[in-house]
Amino acid sequence: MTAIETIGLSYVYPDTTPAFKEVNLQIKAGAKTAILGINGSGKTTLIYHLNGIIPAQQGEVKIQGLTVDKKHMQEVRKKVGLLFDNPDDQLFSTTIFNDIAFGPRNLKLDPATVNQRVKEALDRVDMAELAQRPPYCLSLGQKKRAAIAGLLAMKPQVLAFDEPFSGLDPEAAVHFRNILDQLVDEGATLVYSTHDVDMAYGWADEVIMMKSGKVLACGEYDLLRDEALLREASLPMPALAKLFKNHEEKPRTVEEAQAIIEGTKLLSQHQIIRLDIEK
Ligand SMILES: Nc1ncnc2c1ncn2[C@@H]1O[C@H](COP(=O)(O)OP(=O)(O)O)[C@@H](O)[C@H]1O
Ligand SMILES: [Mg+2]
Repeated sequence: MTAIETIGLSYVYPDTTPAFKEVNLQIKAGAKTAILGINGSGKTTLIYHLNGIIPAQQGEVKIQGLTVDKKHMQEVRKKVGLLFDNPDDQLFSTTIFNDIAFGPRNLKLDPATVNQRVKEALDRVDMAELAQRPPYCLSLGQKKRAAIAGLLAMKPQVLAFDEPFSGLDPEAAVHFRNILDQLVDEGATLVYSTHDVDMAYGWADEVIMMKSGKVLACGEYDLLRDEALLREASLPMPALAKLFKNHEEKPRTVEEAQAIIEGTKLLSQHQIIRLDIEK
């Protein structure tokens, strides 16, 4: 099933810089889709179209069949949770609690339901103990988690995240990925922008490759083994794809690669022992 569709979507900034042209996409529901591209490819501008922050100039965006336009904006904003690259653009209240409560209060939910939503969202991102802190007292990882909690309190079905892992240390990135995996397991659709080919190779279900405002290709994560395509996108090949290029097995994670290498070592030891016996 398709969660997000763009039809002939083009956008030119007021200063006449074109962001992208004729973008036609169908993004699968319940999957993790990475929009991959170097700086200036058009990723952020595209993500901003998914909840109407940037209204379509030419062409159309549909979320679960609903056109993103003025008429449907309220419904669209309920469906799509948009995460900015910089969480400081998202957090503006005096405390994390108030920040997360902002959306549910806007929906005019009663105070008990608002409290419940905030509590659930904070628990999801492991931040219950920081509810009363002002946002500026948090680390970047905590700010990103607080910004996500603010989105989760709205119970969105589509998560559109701009560079969600940028600036996070490796441990925070793993934590963040686990939170997102859980949301996708529960049925959410995740579309996120990145230039990290290794992370996309190991983690995304689908990829959209962009360069200079054009979609070069879209399909399953294994597009990231296509050398010609990567060259066209000015992106490097993921390290594991490169290492196992001439290998029958194609591990996506270091753990899988390790198991294959250790298996091969065991096999070769076994073969040596057999050769010894046969002698
Ligand atoms: N506010 C803006 N005004 C003018 N041009 C912009 C603006 N924001 C982005 N651009 C331009 O639009 C193109 C796409 O940018 P962007 O969507 O930010 O790409 P990415 O997120 O892939 O780096 C680039 O050429 C960029 O310079
Ligand atoms: Mg960007």
